[in-house]
Amino acid sequence: MKALCWQGVNELSVERVPDPEILNAQDAIVRVIATTTCGSDLHLLGGYIPAMRAGDVIGHEFLGEVVEVGPEVRRHKVGDRVVVCSIIGCGRCWQCQHDMWSLCENSNPKSGLTDELWGGSTAGIFGYSHAMGGFRGSHAEYARVPFVDYGAFSVPDGVDDISAMFTSDSAPTGWMGADLGGVKPGDVVAVWGCGAVGQMAARAAMLLGAERVIAIDRFPERLAMTSRHVGAEVIDYTTTDVTAELRERTGGRGPDVCIEAVGMEAHSPGVEYRFEKAKQQLRIELDRPFAVREAIFACRKGGSVFILGVFAGAVDKFPLGAMMNKGLTVRGAQQHGHRYIPMLLDRVARGELVTSYLATHEMSLDDAPLGYDLFKNKKDGCVRAVFRPGM
Ligand SMILES: NC(=O)c1ccc[n+]([C@@H]2O[C@H](COP(=O)([O-])OP(=O)(O)OC[C@H]3O[C@@H](n4cnc5c(N)ncnc54)[C@H](O)[C@@H]3O)[C@@H](O)[C@H]2O)c1
Ligand SMILES: [Zn+2]
Ligand SMILES: [Zn+2]
Repeated sequence: MKALCWQGVNELSVERVPDPEILNAQDAIVRVIATTTCGSDLHLLGGYIPAMRAGDVIGHEFLGEVVEVGPEVRRHKVGDRVVVCSIIGCGRCWQCQHDMWSLCENSNPKSGLTDELWGGSTAGIFGYSHAMGGFRGSHAEYARVPFVDYGAFSVPDGVDDISAMFTSDSAPTGWMGADLGGVKPGDVVAVWGCGAVGQMAARAAMLLGAERVIAIDRFPERLAMTSRHVGAEVIDYTTTDVTAELRERTGGRGPDVCIEAVGMEAHSPGVEYRFEKAKQQLRIELDRPFAVREAIFACRKGGSVFILGVFAGAVDKFPLGAMMNKGLTVRGAQQHGHRYIPMLLDRVARGELVTSYLATHEMSLDDAPLGYDLFKNKKDGCVRAVFRPGM
C-alpha cells in the first residue's frame, strides 16, 4: 500500500510499504477514507519529538471503512464506517476504566522510553513516534486499529466523512480543554491558538455555556474564521499586548479559564523568540512555551489554565510564582477522545458542532507532502489539509 513516511527533519515522502495485517485478536484493518494533518505532526516534522525513525508512517486523525476484523472483535463488522480515535486505549486497564484513555497502561508497548523522561508514559498514539508505541499512522491506504471495539466509533448516517473525521482528534481535544479546564456557564474563556484545536476548544467553551470566548492568534484568515464559524471575539497578538487587552475586556480581572492550543513551537513577536528558537534547536531547551507563560500571567486569580498544546520536555522561565501565588489550577493532557467522541458525533449530527469548514484543502495521498508544506507554513489560508487515499 501507499503511505506518507517521515524520512527526517522536514522530509516526507510517499512510499510503498507492506499492507497491515491483523496481529491481535482485537484488531481490525480499516481502509482509510479521509485523514488530516494536525499541529502535533508539525512537531514530528520539526524533529522535536524523540524516537522517530526514517520510514515511519505518520498521521493520526482519520475515518475509514472496516475491511477485516480479528476473532475477538465484537462491536464492529466489515463494512462499518468508523471514526478512529487518534489515541489507542485498551478499555480494560485502571486508566481506561476511569475514562483517562490517553494514559492507558497497556496500549504503548514502548512505555520505557517516556517512563525515563517523564516518570510515566502516555497511551499508544497512531503515527506518533516509537516513544508513543511505534504504531503506523493513518496517512496510508490502510491502518491496523488495535482494541478496535473501544477506539473506533460508527458514524451515524447523514454525517459526512469530513465532519465525522474531525471527531477523531481536533474536536475531542478542544472539548477536553474546555471540559477539564472547568468551563462553567457565565465564564469568560480565552483560547491561545486558532488552529483546528483552538477553534474546537473555543466552540466547546461556548457550548458549555461560556458567556464570552476570546481567541488569540496572528493569522488574519484564522482569526476571521474563528470569529465567523465559532462566534468568538478575537485578538491579534502581534498588534496588541494580549494580557493588557484581556484585562481590559474582563473588567480588570482576567479570563476565568485559559486554554492553550499552541504547543512547543509557539511564536512570539518579541526578540525573545529568536533566543528561545535557537535554544530549542540546540536542544538547550526542549520547548518554547510563550503561550503557556502568557496564559498563566493573564488568567484571573483562582482561575484555571489547560494546556492542550503538545510539549515534550523541560522549559525555561516557567512562571511558577504566578501560578502558586495566584492560586491557579494548571492542567494538561493528551486527549481522552473515547470519552467524548460519541457525544461529539451526536452534536455534529444535530448541527450544533460544525467541523467540516476546518478542511480548507483536500487532496490525494500522493500530494500529502504538498499538503504538509501548505499546513506547516500556513500558506493559502490552510487550516487543515485532508488526504483522501482513494482519490
Ligand atoms: N493534547 C492533545 O491530545 C492534542 C491533540 C491534537 C493537537 N494537539 C496540539 O495542539 C496544538 C495545536 O494544534 P493545531 O492542529 O491547532 O495546530 P496549528 O499549527 O494549526 O495551530 C497552532 C496555532 O497557534 C498559533 N500560535 C503560535 N504562537 C502563538 C502565540 N504565542 N499565541 C497565540 N497563538 C499562537 C499559530 O499561529 C497557529 O495558528 C499543537 O501543539 C498540537 O500538537 C494536542
Ligand atoms: Zn492531533
Ligand atoms: Zn487501557
